[in-house]
Amino acid sequence: MNSQELRDKFLSYFKGKNHKIIKSSSLLPNDPSVLLTTAGMQQFSLYLSGKKDPLEDFESRHLASCQKCFRTGDIEEIGDDTHHTFFEMLGNWSIGQDETGYFKEGAIEFAMDFLVNELRLDKSRFYVTVFKGEGGIGKDEEAIDLWLKQGIARDRIIECSKKDNFWGPVSDIGPCGPCSEIHYDRGEEYGCGRPDCGPNCDHCKRVVEIWNLVFMQYNRNENGEYELLDQTNIDTGIGFERLLSLLNHKNSSYETDIFKDMIARLEGVSQKKYEDNILAFRVIADHTRSAIFLAGDGIEPSNVGQGYVLRRIIRRCVRYSKMIGIENDVGLGDHVISKYRDVYPELEERKSMIYDIIEKEEKKFEKTIKSGLSVLERLIEEEKDNKMISGEKVFDLYQSYGFPFELTEEIVKEKGFGLDKAGFDESLKKHQDLSRAGAEKKFGGVGKDAGVEGAKLHTATHLLHTALRKVLGESVQQMGSDINIERLRFDFAHNQKMTPEEVKKVEELVNEAIKSDLIVKKEELSLEQALESGALAFFKEKYPEVVKVWTIGNPETGEWFSKEICAGPHVDKTSELGHFKIIKEESSSAGVRRIKAILTKE
Ligand code: GLY
Repeated sequence: MNSQELRDKFLSYFKGKNHKIIKSSSLLPNDPSVLLTTAGMQQFSLYLSGKKDPLEDFESRHLASCQKCFRTGDIEEIGDDTHHTFFEMLGNWSIGQDETGYFKEGAIEFAMDFLVNELRLDKSRFYVTVFKGEGGIGKDEEAIDLWLKQGIARDRIIECSKKDNFWGPVSDIGPCGPCSEIHYDRGEEYGCGRPDCGPNCDHCKRVVEIWNLVFMQYNRNENGEYELLDQTNIDTGIGFERLLSLLNHKNSSYETDIFKDMIARLEGVSQKKYEDNILAFRVIADHTRSAIFLAGDGIEPSNVGQGYVLRRIIRRCVRYSKMIGIENDVGLGDHVISKYRDVYPELEERKSMIYDIIEKEEKKFEKTIKSGLSVLERLIEEEKDNKMISGEKVFDLYQSYGFPFELTEEIVKEKGFGLDKAGFDESLKKHQDLSRAGAEKKFGGVGKDAGVEGAKLHTATHLLHTALRKVLGESVQQMGSDINIERLRFDFAHNQKMTPEEVKKVEELVNEAIKSDLIVKKEELSLEQALESGALAFFKEKYPEVVKVWTIGNPETGEWFSKEICAGPHVDKTSELGHFKIIKEESSSAGVRRIKAILTKE
């Protein structure tokens, strides 16, 4: 069964069961607190939490979709059999109750019927997992009974903890619930032979997860408490590529029709075999597909948020291409687009824009690589006895050549060398402390309020940044910032002079934020969590593992105006700022504008 047949089969099955088929939403979620779309349920969040009625918008409580998804947590794992950055997820939903709504029993019946009667999977090979109860939520006895009723043997119903069998929410807050997963035993020949081998085995992929059924009954609130929703929902998810591999008796999705043409093309151009270069081929295939889909949803490479994900993906792809001797564009994008254009017509429609975005980034990266790589190679040669690159040297490479830390790490690892990450972090910190000391010196000699004024201007800079992105678009990104006792200066990427109306609108937005008396909150998060939360970040300053995220917003509603990674300092609330005024908007260098702004008493 090929990918198109599987997609069609799933959607027509649920259509036949009175489900409305909903188009995939964009990879860019509506919810600004989430970086990218990671699950099929995201576009239905408001319905699942009971804030909106699905009947009004879809004329049905029963929905099904094939959703474009992206998980950034997996970037480093790309290259194994099953992980992808971009992937598709099949799902069905039953949202809220009336006489037509279904819950656990209906969800389990549909899943079994589809897998056994439509896909002809062997029921005796199934394992199912259920939530064993934890944290004040009881064991899911009901699910156990329902699985028994479906003919699953009791010893194949595995009770799992919250870590494995409680799903959601996608960000910190939102609908979630215990879940029950269907796993499939592919047979002894795939196994590790351990007596405890089964679902979620850490040692082999004999048993693979096919379908996750979430019994959505809870909402996680701002305080991290689980409160019962007024309604119950079914939310399910099937990892599309994984099921496709299973049905085709393939170990890996790279061996299914999805990637077949791409891999063949890569073999043809590079004159190298997939089997001998599995990691590089897989990274290139996965990342090419991802980059096309991200760019297709309007994301452009940048140093922040989603743009940073795309930048990383394209850059990794370029690097792995070089490893198998590919220097130029070899038309892999056409394979991706022709494979998906019937399902996601936007790819064909936006083809030239997509290629343009990717090509520009590849060129930019070529330049960085050229200068950095030769330096790194010299370093590796110099250290061939120690097999260790000092953190200071890695920092130099980063600081002087803009050579990404991740890239250095990958290259060094490949050569079997070590790298002093702690030393790198230390050099980075030293550098940041020096810059900070420099900034503080600027405030010196003007009385003790200089610190307070600086903090105010720092906070104003964050407000300005958001306001610029709102007025001029998301492509605005910080290129530089300088604060002295009197004014802030902010450089940002933008191609034309701002109109007087735009300047006025930006001032208004900042002043509205000031008047709303928003709270400025500091959190310490891992870089990954910070980026996931939608915080803006700038690659120029390389970040440590734990970063400070400053959120300016209303903690009562959870709405925020600005969220940025920054060392600070900042004020506690925006009402301390007074009145914001832009005094100059001018060119700083090609493609970069500069704003100078002040805070006045009124
Ligand atoms: N929302 C269900 C899943 O992603 O598995």
